[in-house]
Amino acid sequence: MNNVIEIKNIIRDFKLGTETVHVLKGIDLNIERGDYVAIMGPSGSGKSTLMNLLGCLDTPTDGNYLLNGQDVSKMSDDQLADIRNKEIGFVFQTFNLLPRTTALDNVALPMVYAGISKTARHARAAEVLEDVGLADRMDHRPNQLSGGQRQRVAVGRALVNKPSIILADEPTGNLDSKTGEEIMGLFDTIHKAGNTVIMVTHEEEIADHAHRVIRLRDGLIESDTRNR
Ligand SMILES: Nc1ncnc2c1ncn2[C@@H]1O[C@H](COP(=O)(O)OP(=O)(O)O)[C@@H](O)[C@H]1O
Ligand SMILES: [Mg+2]
Repeated sequence: MNNVIEIKNIIRDFKLGTETVHVLKGIDLNIERGDYVAIMGPSGSGKSTLMNLLGCLDTPTDGNYLLNGQDVSKMSDDQLADIRNKEIGFVFQTFNLLPRTTALDNVALPMVYAGISKTARHARAAEVLEDVGLADRMDHRPNQLSGGQRQRVAVGRALVNKPSIILADEPTGNLDSKTGEEIMGLFDTIHKAGNTVIMVTHEEEIADHAHRVIRLRDGLIESDTRNR
């Protein structure tokens, strides 16, 4: 079996004062290495909650999560931080770059935590920035870049440690449709290079790039279809 993700009966509740909000109500999901998956569903259906669990930014209330065969559902915060840095590349709707830091240093940042030397970090970050089409923008800070260019930097940062999975939560949500399509072209290339890509979107045209579409409704998987 070649599943990068195996999830069994994941529950995520949030406590708000005396009330408990049931957000994910029992999700079962396997994702094969090298797949290209879109997660869709109405606002509030639990897409971001699921992505945060997949990305080890959060842990489930109940259920099991195996990432590359390792049970991450019961790990400590330190162990999760380590897994996140090595195995997960996360792209956010709002880019989440460090504002006063160049594209090169934003992309190099995950390697600081991985303990790689400065020379090696810069060499690898420059290579990745070339791959995402920003060879001529390495010394620019985020406010000197367009939205599409900022998202390219964020994609470069997600790729730099060669993670097992690339997660993207509405990566085109803050971009116009032309720029969004350009970013999707980049994800297509990343997928073709052999990476596992999982993204959230509410746009059918964006989801059409994926090979498998999973629809959530009210904290459960409503449908799961393969396009190709
Ligand atoms: N930290 C939290 N505390 C309480 N409720 C939360 C928290 N995070 C998410 N929720 C609730 O979970 C539901 C699903 O949220 P989310 O996963 O962000 O949905 P989506 O990304 O599909 O729009 C929403 O009703 C939201 O209010
Ligand atoms: Mg969301």
